[in-house]
Formats: sequence, structure tokens, C-alpha cells
Amino acid sequence: MRTVRLHAGKGDIFVKRIPVIIDTDPGIDDAVALLLALASPELDVLAITAVSGNVPLERTLANALIVRERSGFTGVPVYAGCSRPLLRAPEYAACHGADGLGGMGGDGAAPLSRGAEEEHAVRFLIRVLHEAARGERPRVTLCPLAPLTNIALALIQAPDIVNGIERIVLMGGAFAEQGNASPCAEFNILSDPHAAQVVFSCGAPLVIAPLDLTRKALATSERLAGIRAAGNPVAEFAADLLTAGRDIGSLPGGGGVPLHDPAVFGWLLHPEYFSGREGYVAVECASERCMGYTMVDWFGQTGQPSNALVLTDLDADAFFADLTERLRAYGRNDA
Ligand code: RIB
Ligand code: CA
Repeated sequence: MRTVRLHAGKGDIFVKRIPVIIDTDPGIDDAVALLLALASPELDVLAITAVSGNVPLERTLANALIVRERSGFTGVPVYAGCSRPLLRAPEYAACHGADGLGGMGGDGAAPLSRGAEEEHAVRFLIRVLHEAARGERPRVTLCPLAPLTNIALALIQAPDIVNGIERIVLMGGAFAEQGNASPCAEFNILSDPHAAQVVFSCGAPLVIAPLDLTRKALATSERLAGIRAAGNPVAEFAADLLTAGRDIGSLPGGGGVPLHDPAVFGWLLHPEYFSGREGYVAVECASERCMGYTMVDWFGQTGQPSNALVLTDLDADAFFADLTERLRAYGRNDA
């Protein structure tokens, strides 16, 4: 369905839905991002593709299926992708818990109404983006919330899929901020810096939500209480996930879990809540000490044309209010 009717208070408005593919490594913040995207009628979630990242692929795939089940949107297909980065050895993130969902991944006993698709995520990405490139479907917005291995491998195997990509809106990188996986690098980029450089140089328009932005989107106790007060099982699940994330270990100095991955959909749904700058972005792939460092050239010093909109600020209260309202929709069955 290409358009959706929204109630604007004074009547109906029709908006063109944005076709998106979500590439993810759930992951506490990934899970909240999935719940946000699936609840948003402006987004046409074509598929969820899982990749190794926060936890091994077996867990990120299982967690993607669990979150899809909890959302009720079991019509959205889930594909398993790459089980390791292109070159580097996998390094997992302890801050999501051993199961990747802060202990809420269940024991696997809860029956799922639907499993993952047989097709590999990379083959799926190539197939669908080729269809878009041929004009057989609208061009697709890719929303990577994880190491960029799946996306990079699709681009390496079939570079012409870039013609089927509307834009890539990704969470990753750290520019003026210190990294969270090393002093120089953010987790998604450091996990697979070579994949990130392939994606950053592919020619598709990029929108980047780095730590510089997402560390300003903290799930404080008040905001958590607001999400919980939405009063339905899915909002409760989101609040429980973020509470677990806070207890496992958010930013040094506390303040709450930074909503890294949901910021991608925050921007897609309300770009007016965000601000940023165009610049040329590239990834350090040679220096072991600075591996995964994301450089941005704001002033054209490299002679390279801008390839990304780098988001640096947001109206966090507006973002959380919108997130909470969309989670509330799960209780009204109009999510
Ligand atoms: O640095 C934050 C990113 O790394 C998020 O995508 C989080 O889920 C982890 O994957
Ligand atoms: Ca993630």
C-alpha cells in the first residue's frame, strides 16, 4: 500500500509511505527502534534483515523474530544475514546482556507464529534493490542499525543496486564525540570498518545518526515512565528493555540509555526535530589504534564532495513524546 490516511485532527491527510528495509542486530535499542518503525504507518517496512553485531547472528535473528512477534506485525519477513564482519573478527557488546535483549530474549520456549525466510538477507537485498532499480517498485530507504556487513556485501556483489536505493539512514559513527567501542570509534563502525567504508563510498545519499546525536536522546527515568504509562504490553516491553539496558550499563555518569537506533526512525518520521550538516565522511581502515574512526570534512579540505547529512542535534522532548505516542498506538490496535 503506497499511501496511508492519517488523522490530522482537522480531517484526513494522505501521505506516501516510505518503503524501508531495516538491517539490525537486536540489541536493546534495535528492539525499541523496530517497535517504533512497525507502529508507524508512514513507514512501509518491507523486511527486517538480521546481522551479527551486538550478539552472534543466531541471537540477533532470534531477537528480531521475538520483537516482530511481540509487535504483532508478523507479516513483515525476517531474513538472516552475515554471521561475521568482512575481515575483522566479531566482537560482541556486553551492554545488551548475553541474550541481546537484556534478559528478555526468553528461553526460546515461547512459540513463534512464523520463522525466518529461507533466502539469505544479502540475496534478498540484491533482489529487491534490483527490482527498484528497474522501476518495478519504488526506491527503497535502507535503515542499518548495526555493523554494515550485509549492506556492504550486497553492494560488493551487485554495485548497480545503488540505483534502487532512495537513501541510507544509518546509526553509526562518532565525530566530535569519543567512541563507545574504542576511544576513536563507535560500535557499528568499528565492528566492520571495511563494510562501513564500502557503504560510505557507494554513492547513495547518506543520513548518519552518530553518537554526537544519539547521546542527546537519553531515556531518562521520566521519559521511561512516560513510555510505561502508555499502558499496553508492547510499550511495557519497550520500557522493560530500556530499564534493563540502564541497569546493564548505559553511559558513564548515568542519565539513562541513549536511544541510538530509534533516532534513525525519529529522523525519518520527523526530520524537523533534528539538525545537522552536510559533509564528506570516510572511515579509517588502516590504523589499528584509530580503526573505525569516522572522519568528516565540513570544509572541503579533502577536495571530496559531500556524501552525507550528519545529524548533530535534536529536540529530545519532541522525539520522546512522538515515540511514546506511537507506542501507545499498540494499545489502540491502530499501530
Ligand atoms: O553504538 C551504538 C550502536 O551499537 C547501536 O546500533 C547499538 O545497537 C549497537 O549495535
Ligand atoms: Ca544496533
